[in-house]
Amino acid sequence: MKDQINALANQWNQSLKDLFEHDSERGSRFVTMGAGLRLDYSKHWIDQAVFEALFDILVNCDFVAKRDQLFGGEKVNVTEDRPVLHPALRAQANDAFHVNGVSIISDVLQARDRAYTFADQIRDGSLVGATGKKFTDVVNIGIGGSDLGPLMISEALKPLIDGPRPHYVSNVDGAHFHDTVAAIDPETTLFLIASKTFTTQETMHNASKAQQWISEALGHGAIASHFAALSTNTDAVSAFGIPKERMFGFWDWVGGRYSVWSTIGLSLMIALGPGVFDRLLHGAREMDLHFRESPLSSNIPVIMALLGVWYRNGFGLQTLAVLPYEQRLHRLPAYLQQMEMESNGKRIDREGQAVAYDTCPVIWGEPGTNGQHAFFQLLHQGTLICPIDFILSANPSNTDSESHVLLNANCLAQSESLAFGKSHEQAYQEMVEQGMSAAQAGRLAPHRSFPGNRPSSTIMMTQLTPETLGALIAAYEHKVFTQGVLWNVNSYDQWGVELGKAQCNALRPSFDSGCASDFSSSTQEGVRWLRKNMH
Ligand code: F6P
Repeated sequence: MKDQINALANQWNQSLKDLFEHDSERGSRFVTMGAGLRLDYSKHWIDQAVFEALFDILVNCDFVAKRDQLFGGEKVNVTEDRPVLHPALRAQANDAFHVNGVSIISDVLQARDRAYTFADQIRDGSLVGATGKKFTDVVNIGIGGSDLGPLMISEALKPLIDGPRPHYVSNVDGAHFHDTVAAIDPETTLFLIASKTFTTQETMHNASKAQQWISEALGHGAIASHFAALSTNTDAVSAFGIPKERMFGFWDWVGGRYSVWSTIGLSLMIALGPGVFDRLLHGAREMDLHFRESPLSSNIPVIMALLGVWYRNGFGLQTLAVLPYEQRLHRLPAYLQQMEMESNGKRIDREGQAVAYDTCPVIWGEPGTNGQHAFFQLLHQGTLICPIDFILSANPSNTDSESHVLLNANCLAQSESLAFGKSHEQAYQEMVEQGMSAAQAGRLAPHRSFPGNRPSSTIMMTQLTPETLGALIAAYEHKVFTQGVLWNVNSYDQWGVELGKAQCNALRPSFDSGCASDFSSSTQEGVRWLRKNMH
């Protein structure tokens, strides 16, 4: 893969300006549609020949068979010896998903129905708090995949929230818990302890604080009515004191960062209602079908994946900016950071060898137009070239269409400017025409010219709805899978987060004892300084 991509990239010598000048139909040729999304990939350093070569590279990585293995329930997570079947969570009754040859559809549908029933009971008030009051607020305590997905979606679909208000506590920093509960009433608050393993330090710490908060306000006996658990670890949930009927399970074949479709989405089911959650699943399922059935040449996740690998391995570009021109998607970059960087931020391949090429880029981003007044300077004129995913919709998710047109004009103007820039000559002429002296214009022209040729994708939808959002998330999930195939890494483990966790457990007692002798002098001095300055 690496050598082929390098060879292709070494031959590449066309600018976006040239490509558009030589092909008046480029803007409609390099566009594909699927599951309600329109991907415009014309503003990339590719032509038909490069694309075909990239498809060949993917096919030579045995992509089609590997995709079949994923959907077929084979143990593609080789280091944890598990299948990876989050698409099964979007399944309908007549879909086929198996683990060890046994259909999992009825388990999936039953777990979903049970969570929906609970959500309806919270929403309609047939399940109430210890003092008989209807729940007005639901607090999801979780971190990583047990937080980012539900949080991101609750922000994205805010106008559709018609049930108890959702809140999310993730950070072990006490400020997060305290600021959240400061604004809510224990009598009308339901806590969801969301943790696949039910051992995650931050989540268990915050869960204990929540128990204490309820117990102090309403008495220990109130805890049973104010808590539910979303987990795969039945023993740990019951040891924590949450009864079986309040536990909503899922399976080890659901990775944390792919779990929002499972009962980890319960806060969404409660806030938005099962009907809206179903629409989200429906949109994601449409993208699953598109990914499985569309030819590679029009397959959105495949194209996104190939472009990413082309820039990362062909040109050494180190980041991907995800810039939604949609304020309600303001947590999407954070969500995708976990999805992409925890999945493909790997240096060991599936055979246990160190890879000889780069893998996942840094994913980052902010919503437009705010980013324009912050980091776009670097995007336009910096020395680093950052490919971008722009995301926008034709219609607002509110009634302010005038603002929305301005938002969208900004988005397209940015991708246009980044692609085509402004030459030194143009900048100079403009200034002279505005009455500036030739000397002054000459001095300023280098500063006021833009190199252009900065690549971007533009992902459009008619509106940000549960369906299009589901499709968008699933598109990135399948992109991550496809890149994992190209880089030959296991996208579904995350051993890299373990060392820091273990070190934290080992270091925590030194804050009491003052002895950190097993650690470096820097850490020892850090502990000493913090202890000395602790109030
Ligand atoms: O530390 C990383 C991680 O394991 C993520 O993969 C996961 O989403 C997060 O922690 C939370 O894990 P859990 O749901 O088990 O609490």
